Amino acid sequence: FVFAAAKASGLPEAEGVEVAFAGRSNVGKSSLINALTGQANLARTSHQPGRTQEVIFFANPAAPNLGLVDLPGYGYAAVSKKLKRDWGQLILDYLAGRPNLVRVFLLVDSRRGVGEIDHPAMDLLDKVALSYQIVLTKVDKVKIDELDQIRAKVVKSISKRPAAYPDIIETSSAEGTGTDELRKTILRLAQE
Ligand code: GTP
Ligand code: MG
Repeated sequence: FVFAAAKASGLPEAEGVEVAFAGRSNVGKSSLINALTGQANLARTSHQPGRTQEVIFFANPAAPNLGLVDLPGYGYAAVSKKLKRDWGQLILDYLAGRPNLVRVFLLVDSRRGVGEIDHPAMDLLDKVALSYQIVLTKVDKVKIDELDQIRAKVVKSISKRPAAYPDIIETSSAEGTGTDELRKTILRLAQE
């Protein structure tokens, strides 16, 4: 753990290379960071949506050039309008003004696929031309043929989006599926 920022003015200096994890509340962002780092309690997780409310920075002492950033989820109805606005602004300021942010992993629940709620996030990322890649989460919860259908829909929904990276990564933090692939992708980005 390095730093938690609740305000755009409180973001730490951009150093090294960062990747960020975005997506709707409860999709499994914090769990995936824990699975990737092999540290079960690094990022705080919860079965209640809205757990992460700050932009949280993690770094590995063994790879000091690489930061992992946990973002608050979007689309959680129970938070106040003001909080929602502030969150939106914080994420916007972070995403639009981070020169060392090389990719955003946009997490999508494999039971739901890309939903209405994800489009504003994708619109924003396309607008600021920030490379993003869809990561399906919780694949342990779906049957293989369901996953095939969801994957096909996801591929279609990103096909005309300029900043979307075409390859999708399928993960389960619960079972460790896809974490090696994602880790390799991140390390490759850090070396570019
Ligand atoms: P916010 O911080 O609220 O935006 O949520 P988040 O996206 O960080 O989700 P979090 O990692 O806190 O996980 C939400 C819930 O989903 C928790 O109850 C997790 O245990 C569960 N979960 C996360 N990943 C998986 C997975 O791969 N499989 C299953 N079955 N459950 C998962
Ligand atoms: Mg979280």
